[in-house]
Amino acid sequence: MRTQILKLLAAQPGTFVSGESLIKATGISRQGVWKHIQALIDEGYQITSAKGQGYCLEASPTDLTQTQLETIVGVNGLLDKALHFETIGSTNAYLKEHSRKLTTALVVSDEQTAGRGRLGRNWESAAGDGLWMSMLLRPPIQPAKASMLTQVVAVSMVKALQCFEDVRVSIKWPNDLWIGETKLCGILTEMAAEINAIEYVVVGIGVNLKQQSFPEPISGVATSLVKHTQMPISRAQIVARFLDYFKEDYQQFIADGDLSGFVPFLNENAYLNGHQVWLSDRPDGNYKALGVNALGELQVQDPEGNIVGLSYGEVSVRRKDYAIGI
Ligand code: BTN
Repeated sequence: MRTQILKLLAAQPGTFVSGESLIKATGISRQGVWKHIQALIDEGYQITSAKGQGYCLEASPTDLTQTQLETIVGVNGLLDKALHFETIGSTNAYLKEHSRKLTTALVVSDEQTAGRGRLGRNWESAAGDGLWMSMLLRPPIQPAKASMLTQVVAVSMVKALQCFEDVRVSIKWPNDLWIGETKLCGILTEMAAEINAIEYVVVGIGVNLKQQSFPEPISGVATSLVKHTQMPISRAQIVARFLDYFKEDYQQFIADGDLSGFVPFLNENAYLNGHQVWLSDRPDGNYKALGVNALGELQVQDPEGNIVGLSYGEVSVRRKDYAIGI
């Protein structure tokens, strides 16, 4: 109900919406509307009221709230449920644990006390430092294709971050976003499946937003958005923009059944293309990254000049000078 009231006010920001129209749209009493308005004010919304005119949404809180997240997810329409936590172990772990009770969902937490990265690594997720979120998805695709979702998510997040005009974010195949030579965002995709049917996929996204420094051993290779932009950073805005792009990109991926629609974007925004790469499970040698194909493989030229397609999960690819795992 609160979300519905917020939506009605947000549809006409800076304009008074009459109490009557809120009562009519929601079917609750004047007192009920007033209670929800008070709760929204408590969440940080600036709402003015004037006798005979109604309520006017002047400004939204800069931080995320449950109501705000529900509104974003409700307006977007791709996912069924939105959950905001002040603190949680891990948003990925939460969704895996509750996958039976949910169809699709988005979870965002201000803090993670047991944030996880790939290969069992920790993911530093202090309160207010970043956007820590996970999506529970049920894609109607073969399990073998689930890893491509990571790259669809990477595409949508790059598009969402393009609103920071002074920042150029690139995709480091297969699941990182970098600014220049430093990592801004990591994506962790996990799946439960039978041989040829996916039960669910959980895609976790960690975007460093406000850290001024990072602990060793990642201090030289991690970055945050605040270090590169003067623009205000709102998690709500990033989530809303991301979901808008992701809804479209996800639907295109499901319709195409592969990454063919994303190949140009993936390569125009690729961090590795043209660089020498070090493949963690192959002997040192002169491998050169050429680009990503519709299967999500990274094509590299090996020391003998052959073109080899590397699948996600098969190897870990890093620039040799940034061999540290983050
Ligand atoms: C990586 O680069 O290793 C992937 C990092 C993924 C971190 C995100 S933060 C939200 C979600 N919850 C987790 O525990 N991990 C992912």
